[in-house]
Amino acid sequence: MSQHHQYDVLVIGSGAAGLSLALNLPESLRIAVLSKGELANGSTYWAQGGVAAVLDESDTTQSHVEDTLVAGGGLCREEAVRFTVENSREAIQWLIDQGVPFTREDGSELFHLTREGGHSHRRIIHAADATGAAIFNTLLERARQHTNIELLEQHVAVDLIGRRRLGESGKRCLGAYVLNRNSGEVDTFAARFVVLATGGAAKVYLYTSNSDGACGDGIAMAWRAGCRVGNLEFNQFHPTCLYHPQAKNFLITEAVRGEGGLLKLPNGERFMPRFDERGELAPRDIVARAIDHEMKRLGIDCVYLDISHKPADFIKSHFPTVYERCLGFGIDITRQPIPVVPAAHYTCGGVLTDQHGRTDMPGLYAIGETSFTGLHGANRLASNSLLECFVYARSAAADILAQLEQIAMPSNLPAWDASQVTDSDEDVIIAHNWDELRRFMWDYVGIVRTNKRLQRAQHRVRLLQSEIDEFYSNYRVSRDLIELRNLALVAELMIESALRRKESRGLHYTLDYPGQLQRAEDTILQPGTYYG
Ligand code: FAD
Ligand code: SIN
Repeated sequence: MSQHHQYDVLVIGSGAAGLSLALNLPESLRIAVLSKGELANGSTYWAQGGVAAVLDESDTTQSHVEDTLVAGGGLCREEAVRFTVENSREAIQWLIDQGVPFTREDGSELFHLTREGGHSHRRIIHAADATGAAIFNTLLERARQHTNIELLEQHVAVDLIGRRRLGESGKRCLGAYVLNRNSGEVDTFAARFVVLATGGAAKVYLYTSNSDGACGDGIAMAWRAGCRVGNLEFNQFHPTCLYHPQAKNFLITEAVRGEGGLLKLPNGERFMPRFDERGELAPRDIVARAIDHEMKRLGIDCVYLDISHKPADFIKSHFPTVYERCLGFGIDITRQPIPVVPAAHYTCGGVLTDQHGRTDMPGLYAIGETSFTGLHGANRLASNSLLECFVYARSAAADILAQLEQIAMPSNLPAWDASQVTDSDEDVIIAHNWDELRRFMWDYVGIVRTNKRLQRAQHRVRLLQSEIDEFYSNYRVSRDLIELRNLALVAELMIESALRRKESRGLHYTLDYPGQLQRAEDTILQPGTYYG
């Protein structure tokens, strides 16, 4: 039997954004935090490098703002950048107060700050090279101490419930339908406020640093509910993921380059200075494109990241996770270079929001990687992403709090109708379509694009979508089907956004328009005016 639940705030996502939001709300509110798998399912747990913030005496807000604007290729919204950076110190203090064990300088109370590409100062606060796990574990422990926060694993949000679904006029989000994987039923969650904190969509590509859940569910649900999305053509490829047949998606943190790691060809030659005067510390789009260029030019499978010139003790203490993991694959990074390739890493665009995480639908918020706040522009600066999660979680929580009194609990939400569907006996279609989608996105909508490749991808994705829609109307939903449906929609929106951009800027590089237009404009798609 499907269940009906009521919460003051329904938070879809248990990563940095979702947990921070829940912890910033008063304990008098009943809050549900959903994760579609285990709670540690998202990207947050795997974050390595750290969180960018203005913490050092010699650093300035203006410098962090400028570095973000430069990396963003002229497309950042300056007010979003200023808002985020100005709130960075407070966000870090909140994390310290929660108990996050950030690494300190040897023998000192001061926090160690590392460096990453595109940053003109050391400003990345971190917990060795496992910052995400340290933050996630701390916030989760805190959330578990709050009896008003219910943490629901194996709960997959399928779609949002808006007034339209009730046949009422006006726009407001009233809750969501959620597949409870324990019971196999789709339950109804009514909520006064709903927050999408569902992470990114890098799983749309065959090779990615992200874990399996990064399917753009929040973007797809918001779009279907009538919200605008922005800048989905900007997919960030991290330059250095481990290249090894058994390493599914292991990242080699940019902090390795920040601490002196050098990128080399198989013959030992350094190549980054040929592409950018900042060398290995150029912004990510430039480094990833340079590696892609060299791999294609020389017909090689990977390049090498070498930090073996640093003392072994330094390497082991700064990068214990990377050291151990590589050693497990037979690579001793204190003596050998690391084979690396670029892989899809971060979704810069997302659901359009304002400074409080409000979307186009009253009652619906989007925070963290699923959102598009304007902070990242055409290319995200390293370690600005976790920062965005904390800053916007706090401002969204404050906004919810300010509206609480006026918003009643929605009533009479219809239950999910499963009367017309049966169990699928052809799950092979789902597996095949997953694979096909991710492969053509990698081949046609990757680091270097052309109109022809994008048109091919558009044609393919539309064929897939009609198959998926048919499947969705006839069979009971499963996590795989929900994710595939969302991924195909987000892929379509990414391709459409890429086709609309008639220039190369930041992460969007096309051979048909190699130059940059003078005027920088966001690509905003509006449901109802764009039909794929
Ligand atoms: P996530 O942490 O991805 O969490 C998403 C949550 O949503 C999960 O709980 C998931 O189960 C849930 N969810 C999704 N869809 C549904 C659904 N339909 N129903 C229910 N639940 C759902 N950024 C930095 O700033 N610094 C770094 O050092 C850094 N390192 C990184 C290293 C790696 C390997 C990766 C992959 C990313 C890294 N990033 C880093 C990026 C950063 O980690 C992410 O952008 C950030 O953690 C996103 O947090 P989030 O809360 O928005 O989403
Ligand atoms: C890394 O550690 O290289 C990842 C940092 C980020 O994605 O911001």
